[in-house]
Order: sequence, then structure tokens, then C-alpha cells
Amino acid sequence: MSEAVPNADTAPVTSRIEWVLGTCRLLKSIAAEFDSTRPFDGLTIGTGIHLEPKTVALLLTLARGGARVISTGNLSSTQAEAVAYLRSRGVEVIGGPTTDEAVHDQHLRQVIAARPDLLLDNGGDLFVRYLSDPYQGLLGGTEETTSGRMRLRPLASRLGVPVLVINDSPIKQFAENRHAVGQSVLESYLRMTNQMTNGRQVTVFGYGACGKGVAANFRNAYASVAVVDVDPVARLEAHLDGFAVPDRDEALRGADVVVTVTGAESVLTDADLGLFKDGAVLLNAGHFPREIAVDRIAGSPKVTGSHEAADGITTFHLDDGRRFHLLAHGHMATLAGPRPLGNSIESMDLGFALQARCLEVIAAGSLGEGNVVVPVPRFIDERVATSFLRVYGRTGVGGSASPDGAGAAGANRSGGLAADEPARQDHAPGPSPGEDVLA
Ligand SMILES: NC(=O)c1ccc[n+]([C@@H]2O[C@H](COP(=O)([O-])OP(=O)(O)OC[C@H]3O[C@@H](n4cnc5c(N)ncnc54)[C@H](O)[C@@H]3O)[C@@H](O)[C@H]2O)c1
Repeated sequence: MSEAVPNADTAPVTSRIEWVLGTCRLLKSIAAEFDSTRPFDGLTIGTGIHLEPKTVALLLTLARGGARVISTGNLSSTQAEAVAYLRSRGVEVIGGPTTDEAVHDQHLRQVIAARPDLLLDNGGDLFVRYLSDPYQGLLGGTEETTSGRMRLRPLASRLGVPVLVINDSPIKQFAENRHAVGQSVLESYLRMTNQMTNGRQVTVFGYGACGKGVAANFRNAYASVAVVDVDPVARLEAHLDGFAVPDRDEALRGADVVVTVTGAESVLTDADLGLFKDGAVLLNAGHFPREIAVDRIAGSPKVTGSHEAADGITTFHLDDGRRFHLLAHGHMATLAGPRPLGNSIESMDLGFALQARCLEVIAAGSLGEGNVVVPVPRFIDERVATSFLRVYGRTGVGGSASPDGAGAAGANRSGGLAADEPARQDHAPGPSPGEDVLA
């Protein structure tokens, strides 16, 4: 007997946001703690980060800590459902989905115009605009990405307030950048192209944390992977990890799939058009949509035309008859194109737990001077790592660390990061993944 198939028109609508909220166990425990500790009472937090289900969980957690949260998204990744959900929960959201840089700039400036006490930045967009219109009272904030750190580090002396770089936590490096980005780039390629990976030649530009994961995941999907990196040390590491490291032109000529994940601009340009293999697929996983210089490519006299081949796929035609395909217009493929899911929920739960703990310690004013554009303090890493293993039920405590992992390394009562009380909630058995934990 065949099973009844639910009718798409009458099946109950389930929200991906509710699923994500139910899976972010670390943020759930922090939100429950914030209900009583209220570290952000009376403070405004301005945010400029992708607005998608996992960031909804983060922003709602900050609001549970007493913050007025005023937010906008990043270019081209804002999801309308996330915006609607946040607004329904009292979070102020400026603007909506846009791929227009001028419109996005106005949204960011409106966040700064609210004079937030804390900034949660992604790519340095908010801090850069703060510096062009500075105001009294900014306590500091966080920066999520490699790209943002590269942009903000030269501005550190002008910023003069604590800015903690989440990306430079070892947890973010291995949990999100390496493992999760690697998986989600592979997922995004499959999701948009539906093409096989087996036996294909894949060239990965950039062998940093993200590139390592991308290369490993395509290899695990039975592709033949080559790595290109401007840094000879990174090339050596790729070689010893078993990847081919041909010169740049050779790596492009042979590639069926080319991934850029460097944080640099114009990694692929119109100058490379002679090298692309017929049918090659190009995708960018770096933060800014400038790694593939799409305008220069589209404007080249070698390009005779282009068309939207499928949702998220643009096909370019070259004057010698070759074609190549660009995914998501060169925007970060993991959060663009049809039905973008981004990195795994648990990896983002870890990174966002770091965000919440860093903002908490900055709000408390307990970080000393000189913490401008620096990595997450070690005691926060230890605390979040220990909490993850406990909350997700993976293992107990190793060595002599204190129960929540804060240990002697950095428990700081004045920063609200006491070694015992709040973290006790982290010790409770986790909820079932479907439970709505943040609502
Ligand atoms: N898609 C996502 O979800 C996601 C998540 C995290 C980070 N990112 C972004 O991915 C990018 C890379 O991050 P990362 O943490 O791996 O950075 P990283 O600094 O660890 O590594 C970047 C690597 O790229 C190399 N590189 C720089 N310019 C190059 C060029 N022109 N050609 C070849 N190699 C070049 C560098 O030498 C370095 O080895 C950043 O833009 C970051 O913001 C994306």
C-alpha cells in the first residue's frame, strides 16, 4: 500500500526559523541566563550581519539580555522571512533584502545614526561608518569575519574602543570556517547546479581556514582538487595535505569548478577569460562579492552575451564558442541563490555564543585598554567550548578546568563571566532539537 503524500497546499507551514531556534542549544542556555543577568539593560546594540534564521537566534538572545537591538543585513543575503520574524519579536530592522550597494550604505548609516552603545559588525561596515560620523559613548563591539578584521586592523588607533574579532577565535576557525564553510560550499554547489562532483576537477583559490574545508569536502565528494594560494606556505601545506598545487593558469585551464574563498578582491577577472574551460562553474564563498570581478568579466569584448540559465546560475557566452557559468552572481554562494541554508546550525551556534559572551564582557566594561581589533579572550573560548560539549551531550570535562571551562585562565566576575552561577544553566540536559527555545 502506498503511503499518503501530504498535499503541498494543505500541509501545515513549518518555519525554518523555529527549527533553527530549537537547534541552537548554546544560545538557548545563554538567553535563559540573560533573562536574569540582563547584561545589556539600557544599552542599544547596532548590528550589520546577514539576516537569516541563525542570526535571528543571536539577535533574540541579545534582546533577552535587555538590549534594544537595531539591525540591518549584509548586501544580498537578507532573508525576508528573517526580517519579518525579528520585527514580530520587537527587534528593529532597517531595510530589507537588497543587492544595491548605495541602498545598503544608507541602511548601515541609519544603524549608526541610532548611536548604538555596542556594534556587532560583519565585514567592518558599521565601524567604518562610525569612524566617518563618530559619537560619544560607543563602548566597543565585535567583528565577525576575516574580511572585517583586515579592514579594521589599520583603523585600530582611530577606533580606540574594544573590538573583539570572532573570526580569530580558534573555535570559529575550525568549527565554522573549516568544517562548516567546507560543507556548505559543497552543499551550495550541489543545490544550485545539481551536477555531479565525482571525477570533476575542482580548483580552490585560497587555502586559509575556509579553503581547507572547501578543498577537503570536494575531495570527500570524489572530486580531484587543486589549490591556488598567493602564499607559498599555504601552498606547501596544501601539497602536504595531498592536494595538487599547479601554477595558477594551469589550475584554471583544467578546472570544471572554480571556488574563490580568499577575502581578496579581483581574484578572477576578465584577464582570465582565455583560461576558463568550456562549461566551467565559478562560485565565490568569500565574504564580499568582489572576489570574482563580475562587472569586468561581463564588460569584456570577449563576452558576447549572458543569460540566466537557472535559478542562481548565469551563463556567459564567449566569442570563441565557450561558455561558463557563474553561481549567485558572484555573491557568497553559501547564503545566496535558491533556498540558501548557510553554514550548519551548530557551527553558527558556537560562533554566536562567542558573540554573545564577547558583547557581554564589553558591555560590562571589564576589558582593559588595548583590546582594539584583537581575538576573542581565551577564557571565553574555553567557556564556550566546555558549554558546547555539555549542552550537546558530547562529553564531560577534561583536565582540571572548572565546570564551565572558565577555569583559572580568565573567569572575571566584573565582566559577568563568573565561573559558576550563570553557566550552571549550560549544564542542564539540552532540549530536544525541535523545541522552540528562544521564543
Ligand atoms: N561563506 C561563508 O560562510 C564564510 C564564513 C567565514 C568566512 N568567510 C569568508 O571567506 C574568506 C576567506 O576566509 P578565511 O578565514 O579562509 O581567510 P584566511 O585569511 O584564513 O585565508 C585566505 C587565504 O587566501 C589566500 N589568498 C589571498 N589572496 C589570494 C589570491 N588572490 N589568490 C589566491 N589566494 C589568495 C591567502 O594567502 C590565505 O591563505 C573571507 O572573505 C571570509 O570573510 C566566508
